[in-house]
Amino acid sequence: MSDEIKTIGILTSGGDAPGMNAAIRAVARKAMAAGVKVKGIKKGYQGLLNEEIIDLERWHVSDTIQRGGTILGTARCMEFKTEEGQKKGVAICKEHGIEGLVVIGGDGSYRGAQALSRLGINTIGIPGTIDLDIACTEYTIGFDTAVNTAMQAIDKVRDTSSSHERCSIIEVMGRNAGYIALWCGIANGAEDILLPEKYDFNEQNIINNIINNRKRGKTHHIIINAEGIGHSTSMARRIEAATGIETRATILGYMQRGGSPTCKDRYYASIMGAYAADILCAGKSNRVVGIRHGECVDFDIEEALNMTKEIPEYHYEVARILS
Ligand code: ADP
Ligand code: F6P
Repeated sequence: MSDEIKTIGILTSGGDAPGMNAAIRAVARKAMAAGVKVKGIKKGYQGLLNEEIIDLERWHVSDTIQRGGTILGTARCMEFKTEEGQKKGVAICKEHGIEGLVVIGGDGSYRGAQALSRLGINTIGIPGTIDLDIACTEYTIGFDTAVNTAMQAIDKVRDTSSSHERCSIIEVMGRNAGYIALWCGIANGAEDILLPEKYDFNEQNIINNIINNRKRGKTHHIIINAEGIGHSTSMARRIEAATGIETRATILGYMQRGGSPTCKDRYYASIMGAYAADILCAGKSNRVVGIRHGECVDFDIEEALNMTKEIPEYHYEVARILS
């Protein structure tokens, strides 16, 4: 039994991600194994403010590890960005005996966790986002499932693109980050990869590439475009007009965020969830858990939010040379 904490809460916040259920299950069961009571807070910070709080038992998380989405639900909550909202959240936590909270989400969610910690509720963040855009960790829950889903969808578009000798622009998610685009670009052997971190908005380079590839006998031309650049449909129209080659845009959208999590997502979500429960029950607060060199690490939230990471230059170069 932990001396520090008797009851903890768990919530998921921001965009959902496959593997969040594995993380919830791991936090809950690891804490329960230490004799700590666990409460589930539904619909993120909004659910906290609405007091949508349930007692979790082991069976609540049974049969969930293989399911996409989040069994607790998630939300974006503007009220929680205000001091008033945060103080209300603290009062509700105290009423329900919640002394510590695990927040599964992205950067924005950690800001909320940081505010709670400042106001006396211990908090630990776990990186849950398909975007892989959290600098303190090599891995975020949901990324692996999302890129595998997108990769399979892009293979299918490529089949029809080749048959019709078309050019295809496929837009993938990632908010302002290009990691999903880079990984799919390499894994799908795309001819062009447009990343928000790298793109120079010179469409003439893409047009020249398409024309040169056609001359070399390529029957398709796959362009992976990141959501952070967007405008795939108008880009397709301009490329078709400039090249005379039929060009179609496909925006993969929310399918990338759903589905049963891959083994890797379940594995790391389980390990990080257990680790988060351990450090929370040991009395740590205001920390974000991450994976570095395959092992769990944790950082002060402010330090984590100030870290930056770059698209790996060598990987980007490889993508260009292999296409
Ligand atoms: P993510 O966690 O995936 O980055 P958001 O940026 O939408 O997603 O943040 C999720 C939620 O976290 C927000 O809806 C809000 O409730 C809370 N949040 C975001 N920023 C702050 C902030 N500066 N202070 C307190 N809470 C915040
Ligand atoms: O952060 C995950 C993500 O799917 C991003 O890739 C995307 O930009 C955003 O969420 C979409 O959010 P919403 O669900 O609010 O449309």
